[in-house]
Parts: sequence; structure tokens; C-alpha cells
Amino acid sequence: MTTSAVRVDAVRKVYGSGPSAMVALDDARLTIEPGKFVSLIGPSGCGKSTLLRLVAGLEPADRGDVRVHGVTPAQACAAKLIGLVPQTPALLPWLTVLQNVSLAARVNPGAGRRRAAIDDLEERGTGAGPDMRELLRMAGLGEAMDKLPAQLSGGMQQRAAIVRAFGLRPDVLLMDEPFSALDEFTRESLQDQLLDLWDELRTTVLFVTHSVSEAVRMSDTVVVMAPRPGRIVDVIDIDLPRPRNQRLFEEQRFHEYEDLVRTRLHSAWRTADAA
Ligand SMILES: Nc1ncnc2c1ncn2[C@@H]1O[C@H](COP(=O)(O)OP(=O)(O)OP(=O)(O)O)[C@@H](O)[C@H]1O
Ligand SMILES: [Mg+2]
Repeated sequence: MTTSAVRVDAVRKVYGSGPSAMVALDDARLTIEPGKFVSLIGPSGCGKSTLLRLVAGLEPADRGDVRVHGVTPAQACAAKLIGLVPQTPALLPWLTVLQNVSLAARVNPGAGRRRAAIDDLEERGTGAGPDMRELLRMAGLGEAMDKLPAQLSGGMQQRAAIVRAFGLRPDVLLMDEPFSALDEFTRESLQDQLLDLWDELRTTVLFVTHSVSEAVRMSDTVVVMAPRPGRIVDVIDIDLPRPRNQRLFEEQRFHEYEDLVRTRLHSAWRTADAA
């Protein structure tokens, strides 16, 4: 039996104490198999970022157990199994795009299981670390790699941050609303590029989004959450073929999945309002 990439078992997380205590997550259970793309969706305050932080090992759970490839998040971090893409790109402003992504790969050579795919890219590249040039080109940043972050648009900076995270060779990539600040057109093109990278590398991805369409398009599984207390209310497998290019938007089944997720989200809202 293979070890799950992520296993969250009966996890509870409370912030504060007494009457002001906030149950950010209650009895959360989730299993993600290696190489899967899983999205978390739900109203603001339902515990999406909290769940991501617990899996990243940035905070401990109050109760329950979190495992990443069978070990604790702290051990997984120490073994460089986990990568995190924050909501804002946070590139170093004095380094070029190529230097930014290469620096991260150099200081964090990684021990991830996606090594074979990255090594393959290395062979095709310069041999000096994973070929960040190749990854940047795949992300549509071939022309931008010698520029400074300030010379790039927000969407391009976010793409560089995603390449940087993949370049760290994580086994599990955690992304907290990476496209939320972008316009719809840029967002769709970034979805394309993220899907291309993911198709190549098959890193396990746990992705937070507020967009139903984005969740359905990207994911093997959409996890619907509800607030007060923050909890998982539905786990919906998206049985649509890949690659999921823009033609997917013309498919009726894609819109049926969107409707299903939206319906479950609305009932999550209603139960939260009634609470
Ligand atoms: N460090 C903290 N201290 C106190 N309360 C917190 C802390 N972090 C989160 N919370 C509370 O826990 C709940 C869940 O927060 P979380 O950030 O996980 O929600 P979210 O689903 O990511 O929301 P959003 O969609 O707005 O990003 C919220 O009620 C929030 O106020
Ligand atoms: Mg959040």
C-alpha cells in the first residue's frame, strides 16, 4: 500500500480561549494521494488557510493528526517535501527573475520524490541545478528571466513565484489563493501554465481558491468547507478528462460540476448562517 501524500485525521484547531474562542477547524478529515490536485473552497473564515498552515507545519493542531508522506509536517519540512506559494509573490526585488528562482533551488536542493522529473529537466538544461530556464520558459517567462521583479506585471511575478516553488522540488505544493489578486484573463492563462507544469511534474497540489470555476477546472477533487465551526462538508471528485485546456469551458459536464460545487457551497453558507 502506498503512503498518502497528505493525511488529515480528526483535526481540530481553536484560536483564543473562553467565550472568544474561535473553532477554526473541527474534526477535519482529508486524504490526498500522491500526484493529485486538490482544491479547498468555502466562504471566508471557514479554515482553508488554517488547514494549509497545519499541513505546512506552520502551526500545530490542537487535536488529531496530520501526516505528509507518512511523517509529521515538521519532519516533512525538514526533508524538503513541502513547498508553499503564498498569496503574494514575495520575490527578492534586487535579483532578476532567473536569479530569484535559481537561488531558491540552490539553497534548497530538495529530497522530493518528483526528483526523476526534475532530473530529466536538468539533463535537458545546463546541468547547473534544475533547469530553471526551462521551467521559466514553460511558464511563459522566457523573455522576462533577466528582468527585475519590478519590471514585471503582477501576473508575471506570480508565475515566477510558482516556478520558484516547483523548482524547490517539493513533493507536496501548498498554494493559498495564488491567483486571487489577478484579473480573469490573466488568471485563466496562469491556470493553463500551472496545469502544464503540473502535467509535467505531477507534484501533489493542495490549492485554496474562492473561484468555483478554477476549482473544478484544476482539480481531481474539490473539498467544500463551511464556517463556524470551520469544517469540511463535502469532498467532490471531478471526473473530467485531462488535459483540461480552455475547451473544457465548452463542455456541459464541466458546467454541471460547477453547479454541483456551487449548490454545496450555498448549503454550506446556509448552515453557517443558521449556526
Ligand atoms: N492567528 C489567528 N488568531 C486568531 N484567529 C485566527 C487566526 N487565524 C485564523 N483565525 C480565525 O480562524 C478562522 C479561520 O481562518 P482562516 O484564515 O483559516 O479562514 P479562510 O477560510 O482562509 O478565510 P479567507 O477565505 O478569508 O482567507 C477565522 O474565523 C479566523 O478569524
Ligand atoms: Mg485564507
